[in-house]
Amino acid sequence: MNQQLFKSAYKIWTGAGATAQLKHEVARLQMNNPLIVSDAIIKQIGLLDEVCASLDEASFGTFLDVEPEPAFSVIEACKKVFLAGGHDGFIAIGGGSAIDTAKAASVYASYEGSLHDFVGTDLVPQKGAPLIAIPTTAGTGSEVTNIAILSDKDAQLKKGIASDYLLPDVAIVAPEMTRTAPQHVTAASGIDAMVHGIEAYLSVNASPITDALALQSITMIARSLPKAYSNSHQLAAREEMATASLMAGMAFGNAGVGAVHALAYPLGGRFQMAHGVSNALLLPFVMEVNKPACLERLKDIADALGEQTSGLSLNEAADRAIMGMTRLCAQVKIPASLKEFDIKESDLKEMTEDASKIERLLKNNPRQLTKAEIYEIYQAAYVGRAQQ
Ligand SMILES: [Fe+2]
Repeated sequence: MNQQLFKSAYKIWTGAGATAQLKHEVARLQMNNPLIVSDAIIKQIGLLDEVCASLDEASFGTFLDVEPEPAFSVIEACKKVFLAGGHDGFIAIGGGSAIDTAKAASVYASYEGSLHDFVGTDLVPQKGAPLIAIPTTAGTGSEVTNIAILSDKDAQLKKGIASDYLLPDVAIVAPEMTRTAPQHVTAASGIDAMVHGIEAYLSVNASPITDALALQSITMIARSLPKAYSNSHQLAAREEMATASLMAGMAFGNAGVGAVHALAYPLGGRFQMAHGVSNALLLPFVMEVNKPACLERLKDIADALGEQTSGLSLNEAADRAIMGMTRLCAQVKIPASLKEFDIKESDLKEMTEDASKIERLLKNNPRQLTKAEIYEIYQAAYVGRAQQ
């Protein structure tokens, strides 16, 4: 076996009430004046105050201007607040956007050049101030990955900064923090987590460690997402989703994600489509194109999803994985086609050009896709999956 590196957040707390650990971690990391990075909604629904109450008398500041798919200007603004307030650490409370904002701002705060210098892989020169991540959605896995995804509004593209210096020092994954997520967010972020598990399992960089995390996360999400979706107070389902999302994050943070995420980028960048929704729309068609390269692994995914595969040929069993995901997406009311959004068929060509440039992800895919194949996937997603 080739040498492989596994990396994650340095410490991970999980379980109901885990936010009680925050004050201890703040003290351990010698944060005397942390900056809390979040958004106005998290403040409005009371999650921020709930977490801050545990900080006792520690002084802290807040940056609440996080926006979905944060623009580069948001990181600039966060850096300014961090420096002006003499802060010495970050506590991110929110979905992937808040955590990505804090991750990028932590390394950017001590850098004098342009934030664009960091776009790509391993271009960040040094670690920044310590960072504690507390997710409020079960989906992105950002609390344990070394990636921050930002929006380049000028280029209408999402851009990734990948560096081990972005790995949070502590992740605190407490299910009660996700109880206020609206139903459509629970659905989209839950499917995003599922796609992380599936793409990590199908990645050319998969390892026994990432395989175990990926398959287990797929099983847990298939079991608990419909329950968490239909009743946000089902804390057991929320807890399983929060832990599964974390595990899928650990899997893809090391094995990488592939063509689903690469093709989803232009949908987020050009059409501001929610990340989980764009992934869900593309997933069955990418799985179909990938199928010849990963029949056995797709059968494993079908089994992990709880599909019945005994007595089936390998090909039929692989199809069950695609069918199972199509059914799950319909169950949590994810739209069925790109047509339902403000996208024209004539946009697909440009989207194909944009997606084909996302080498960082496409190289992880079990099949190397041609531009023609990428275009065909978009066309199929435009028409949409059959409703089951
Ligand atoms: Fe994702």
